[in-house]
Amino acid sequence: MAYNGAAFATHQSEQDMTQDELKDAVAAAALDEIRPLLGRQVVIGVGTGSTANRFIDRLATLRGDFRGAVASSEASAERLRSHGIDVFELNETGTVPVYVDGADEVNAHLQMIKGGGAALTREKVVAACAERFVCIADASKLVERLGDFPLPVEVIPMARSYVARELVKLGADPVYRQGVVTDNGNQILDCYEFMIDDPVAMEARLNAIVGVVTNGLFAARGADVLLLGTDQGVERRTPQ
Ligand code: 5RP
Repeated sequence: MAYNGAAFATHQSEQDMTQDELKDAVAAAALDEIRPLLGRQVVIGVGTGSTANRFIDRLATLRGDFRGAVASSEASAERLRSHGIDVFELNETGTVPVYVDGADEVNAHLQMIKGGGAALTREKVVAACAERFVCIADASKLVERLGDFPLPVEVIPMARSYVARELVKLGADPVYRQGVVTDNGNQILDCYEFMIDDPVAMEARLNAIVGVVTNGLFAARGADVLLLGTDQGVERRTPQ
């Protein structure tokens, strides 16, 4: 497969690795991405989800070599604190040198669908404040075209039905994620049957619907680096 950037193996086995092992491998590789920043009292942006959790657990081994972290969810903040890592408010820190997070889907341009864990808004805000976005994902997340994974849209609760009708007009089949309240007190509509040809345009189009807080397309600000866990090792990719 052709891609930009170097490939390097961090783990190789005779048998296929499990998805969990691939997530562990990319979490380990992400530590190498932040190592040059250590010893400079930096605050690191930290994402949300099972892959990001593995990164947090490994980051704990470097505690003391950085100042602390900004978290993209209450769950990640709690996990960071449980490791004794100081958690800062983004309003206190301003720009962060790096943000490390997973994805639900990622394409060759390193545009992503995120928000499977309902943390999309805070993820997008931290990503916007990051000098570098490092995406960590197992190979199942790499797609040619975004949209097989239902695209999450965070809405303020009183606008949910209106936004759903607008999403139908755009060709999506929105489903209310029952029982989920985001860290911002909002609700999620998951857009099924919604293949995306132009992620940058669709991200802007969805954000223009009144009542939408954020959508899970990370295209205008995609990742700068993808660490992709494969059976052959961790591939380091940059946007094509
Ligand atoms: C949470 C996210 C996650 O990054 C995404 O869902 C991937 O999660 P996982 O690493 O558990 O597969 O966007 O809102």
